[in-house]
Amino acid sequence: MAFYEVYSHPALIRYKTSVCTKATLFLVVVLCLTYIPPLLVAYRSQGFWIKRSTYEEQPVVRFQYQTLLVAATSTRGEYVAWSTFPQLNNMLGANLRIPAVTVREEDQNQDGKLDLLVFQLQLPLKPNEQVYSIQLLLTFSYQLFRMSTVVMQSLAYMQHSSSVPGAKLFISGDLRLQQRTPLPHRGLYNIYNVSVIDGSSPFASAYDLENIIRSYQNRNLTTVLSCPIPVWTIGRAAAAPFEFKAEIRYPVEPPPSPLPARQPCTATGHVSKLRLVHGHYKKVLRAAGDRGRRRRGEFRGLWTGSVVRQRDRQQNKSKDKHLNTGPKRGFKQRTTV
Ligand SMILES: *[C@@H]1O[C@H](CO)[C@@H](O)[C@H](O)[C@H]1NC(C)=O
Ligand SMILES: *[C@@H]1O[C@H](CO)[C@@H](O)[C@H](O)[C@H]1NC(C)=O
Ligand SMILES: *[C@@H]1O[C@H](CO)[C@@H](O)[C@H](O)[C@H]1NC(C)=O
Repeated sequence: MAFYEVYSHPALIRYKTSVCTKATLFLVVVLCLTYIPPLLVAYRSQGFWIKRSTYEEQPVVRFQYQTLLVAATSTRGEYVAWSTFPQLNNMLGANLRIPAVTVREEDQNQDGKLDLLVFQLQLPLKPNEQVYSIQLLLTFSYQLFRMSTVVMQSLAYMQHSSSVPGAKLFISGDLRLQQRTPLPHRGLYNIYNVSVIDGSSPFASAYDLENIIRSYQNRNLTTVLSCPIPVWTIGRAAAAPFEFKAEIRYPVEPPPSPLPARQPCTATGHVSKLRLVHGHYKKVLRAAGDRGRRRRGEFRGLWTGSVVRQRDRQQNKSKDKHLNTGPKRGFKQRTTV
């Protein structure tokens, strides 16, 4: 006997209970499980499928009390030198000159991380000697902990020379991290935890500044002293020592970059750049949205156009200034000499 459908209707079944029951508890637990674990996963994994990202951290830097100093005492190639490496000092012979050195490291904000190194050096000179140039190398141990643990030994190199013999050199700068490749996001990264200068070597080539800098610059991770303005003071009294003073700060990395187009020394220039460009785009979108022009090409044109116009205006302004205030170059020369 064949069947056929005479009539159909959906059935709705409602399950009811009072508030304080196991069923309510179960419902709450299921709701929580639906929303909280995905949030936790997203938070703990720092975003899904991220290949590169940036973060900020103040490094733990310690001066290692290793120093190498070379000072040219004439324009004919005579020099005096000093280092904290006994082997090198033995090799220097008559060129060895022992300076008085004071070093102080300060934690200015009491956060347990050192912020500033004050390095002072007084180099005694013979009456007929003058200082025309100074080369100084300091070594540091440099550590980062926030993502991967980075441990390395790095250096700061300072150099200044002048045709006029000096009495004093003052340098104030930041010890900056320089990366060629991003750091791993976890684990221990200590392949550069090796001495910058091999202090046990009996060979002069190990202390040659050119060799040291060459092998150091081969690294993918280095520190560099950014010191835009060394101050060279002239007029040394006959018996006075040459004075050198350096203030080296250990700032948070990477430095805040005011311009989106500049590539800061960060773990990941790419992502931060993208984000900044993205931000600009959004702003333009908001500003222009009211005018009902929502096409992508138009906004991009608008944005770059306004930037170019601004730049033009600034250039015109500076040109005007240049014309109004007279030759700028002459002014500069006057201040530096
Ligand atoms: C780095 O090197 C120093 C000495 O060269 C050593 O004492 C230290 O344990 C090393 N640290 C790491 C993490 O390898
Ligand atoms: C340094 O970076 C280059 C890529 O820029 C990479 O090929 C090389 O393996 C890196 N060296 C080390 C020791 O990590
Ligand atoms: C800036 O000066 C140039 C000529 O030097 C001119 O063509 C341009 O329109 C000026 N820009 C602005 C914004 O005044």
